[in-house]
Amino acid sequence: MALEKLIVRDSGPLNGSVSISGSKNASLPILAATLLTEGECVINRVPDLSDTNYMFQILGMLGAEVERSSGRMVIEAKNLTPTAPYELVRKMRASVCVLGPLLSRLHEAKVALPGGCIIGDRPIDLHLRGFEALGAEVEFDGGNILLSAPKGLTGARLNLSGKFGSTVLGTDNVMMAAVLADGTTVIEGAAVEPEVVDLADFLNGMGAKVSGAGTTTITIEGVDSLKGREHTVIPDRIEAGTFLVAGAIGGGEVTIKNADASHLISLIEKLRETGYDLTTQGKNITIRPNGEPKGCNISTEPYPGFPTDMQAQMCALFATTPGTSVVTENIFPQRFMHVAELTRMGADVHLEGATAIIKGVDHLSGAPVMASDLRASAALVLAGLKAKGETEVNRLYHIDRGYEHIDRKLRKLGADVVRAPM
Ligand code: EPZ
Repeated sequence: MALEKLIVRDSGPLNGSVSISGSKNASLPILAATLLTEGECVINRVPDLSDTNYMFQILGMLGAEVERSSGRMVIEAKNLTPTAPYELVRKMRASVCVLGPLLSRLHEAKVALPGGCIIGDRPIDLHLRGFEALGAEVEFDGGNILLSAPKGLTGARLNLSGKFGSTVLGTDNVMMAAVLADGTTVIEGAAVEPEVVDLADFLNGMGAKVSGAGTTTITIEGVDSLKGREHTVIPDRIEAGTFLVAGAIGGGEVTIKNADASHLISLIEKLRETGYDLTTQGKNITIRPNGEPKGCNISTEPYPGFPTDMQAQMCALFATTPGTSVVTENIFPQRFMHVAELTRMGADVHLEGATAIIKGVDHLSGAPVMASDLRASAALVLAGLKAKGETEVNRLYHIDRGYEHIDRKLRKLGADVVRAPM
């Protein structure tokens, strides 16, 4: 794939509306869950991203019949092999969520250990704790995780919370390992994110018996088999939040459509506290100026607290918001790839451990920047919207992992953003 960049110029006020795509972080575990049945599954509103494309390829290489036409994916997992291909798995950490379905279906799984990534090492010790509680044996062999459960899986009561709180994909993985186990599983310390609830809804539609999703205690009664099912994934709350922050930075009136405001309460409250007016009507959320904005404080928490995936975008907003803002990252303490780049654009930010102290400046200045965390890269695009001159955000593939046509959507709001070869 040719290396591309985004050229972002000072865009003046953004106005208009954009439609939010389906959720990346709901699509990935739900696509993995299609491995749990021989029946045909149809998943609608899957965003066209490199991450969902990787998952699509992995399902195919595991033996499933797969086809896609725009946002609709059809998967039929009749004959499966238990080994996920290293060359694909290493590109996307979230592919770890095929472990649970393979273990459920085949009582074995072999998947490359996910690499750490730029936002810190990404352990999966909690996932493995859950699988062992259900009776699986875990071995490591040459960079691969080998799971086996020759006597099948048996329901158990287990706790999945770790040093940094709950684990989203860990909860998904153990839920998918439990749906075909003998007996009942109770997951305590479960993640409560909307994407976990969407997966549970899909599993129950397939005939699983999952209750309590959305709370910290999820109960799964094992069943003998699951059927194919059609499902439409929820809107992407992080894409929605990113465009709300684009509206705040742009300073005009921006409406995001096909969103779910109930998934964005902590962000909406923070944007109001910063001084913006936000109104919701059905699936639409509108942001507009409301007098002089002022910096405020953020501390990232598991859902429904302020999402770590929106932290970088808020740093970009605070960089030119009058006053001092204090941003503390509790989920991924190293998740500050954007700070060095914002500083190069003239922001006044300094880091103290996992806290960024940001003093708003009058304006930023465009510069060539690069971040290698998906959300940090998006934050730099937002910063460029109001920076004097031209900002080049390099290595666009980081952004294309998680945002469907971000440049096209920003241009629709009047942003001066073009994609070009690096
Ligand atoms: C999901 O990652 C999301 N990815 C991430 O979004 C999101 O930042 C994260 O949840 C937190 O909300 C997908 O859903 C595909 P975790 P996940 O397990 O599930 C530690 C994006 O930008 N931990 O909830 O991998 C971990 O290191 C991505 O779209 C363990 O210690 O995250 C972290 O500190 C980035 N042991 C904390 O828990 C484990 O076994 C939360 O991680 C698992 C996790």
